[in-house]
Amino acid sequence: MELHRPVLVEQALAAMQPKPGERYLDLTAGYGGHAAKFLELTKNYKAAVLVDRDKFAISHLRTLVEKGAEVINSDFYSASLKLVECEKTFDLILLDLGVSSPQLDMAERGFSFMNDGPLDMRMDQGQDLTAHHVVNKWRTGELQQIFQEYGEYSSKESQRLARAITIARAKQPITSTAQLADLISSVFGRGWSKKHPATRAFQAIRIAVNDELGQIARTLPLLPKLLATGGRVGIISFHSLEDRLVKNYFKSESEKGLEAQIRILTRKPIVELDNVINPRARSAKLRVALKT
Ligand SMILES: C[S@@+](CC[C@H](N)C(=O)[O-])C[C@H]1O[C@@H](n2cnc3c(N)ncnc32)[C@H](O)[C@@H]1O
Repeated sequence: MELHRPVLVEQALAAMQPKPGERYLDLTAGYGGHAAKFLELTKNYKAAVLVDRDKFAISHLRTLVEKGAEVINSDFYSASLKLVECEKTFDLILLDLGVSSPQLDMAERGFSFMNDGPLDMRMDQGQDLTAHHVVNKWRTGELQQIFQEYGEYSSKESQRLARAITIARAKQPITSTAQLADLISSVFGRGWSKKHPATRAFQAIRIAVNDELGQIARTLPLLPKLLATGGRVGIISFHSLEDRLVKNYFKSESEKGLEAQIRILTRKPIVELDNVINPRARSAKLRVALKT
């Protein structure tokens, strides 16, 4: 059974046009779904580099490794910095941001309130910072800030939520995803929004635990250095905070006149039409740029 069904695969291949011999860098290799399709076309396994910070995902890339691909178990900002230092360049770079299905589905990873588990949410299981620490130790003001910035709650809603957490944890630590989800539901009540009231709070905590937006913001300026002339980078994002960073970077870099290092190939983001089959794909957006 496929553990993770990749999204926008055909669209990424059509927009990025992999050719035989080209060098492929996957900065969020996950379960290798995209990588396998790109590498079937480039056939250049030995020049492929696959990065992921999740050890469990990395262990599923064996088939590609046996064919010659190099795997780096690291966050993509550190991996990109190292590759730049080694003056490595690639013809194709893919970032398929966000979480994988197994990260959400495995209760023990603690990403989901649908499957009760410990408050964890680390993509990199070796990292010190966990959701448990954020929820139980961060100051009310810090919690309020992440709910507002990363969960896009209003200032008042973020404050209510942060205060409710601070009061609850003073009585007893909040240790499980279900406990936190129940607390959030009791603050906002069912019917407050179409989605479960905890959806955006969980997103906010996950983004904070994994420094997701910081990773993207620091990596974007390294991409032109990693691309060979004529190389293409494709970035798939899953929510507006990610997509905004990508869109703004592509725009500002491509509008530098003679100094512009990239040209945008997707004036509008490419979206999945076939969203009935794969619900994860509903919010996916692909943007592609070319190194000039
Ligand atoms: C949507 S999944 C990618 C799935 C992959 N394209 C496939 O076809 O199997 C996102 C992956 O990116 C990884 N990831 C997210 N942010 C990362 C970061 N900053 N550094 C390294 N890996 C990251 C996650 O661990 C997860 O495995």
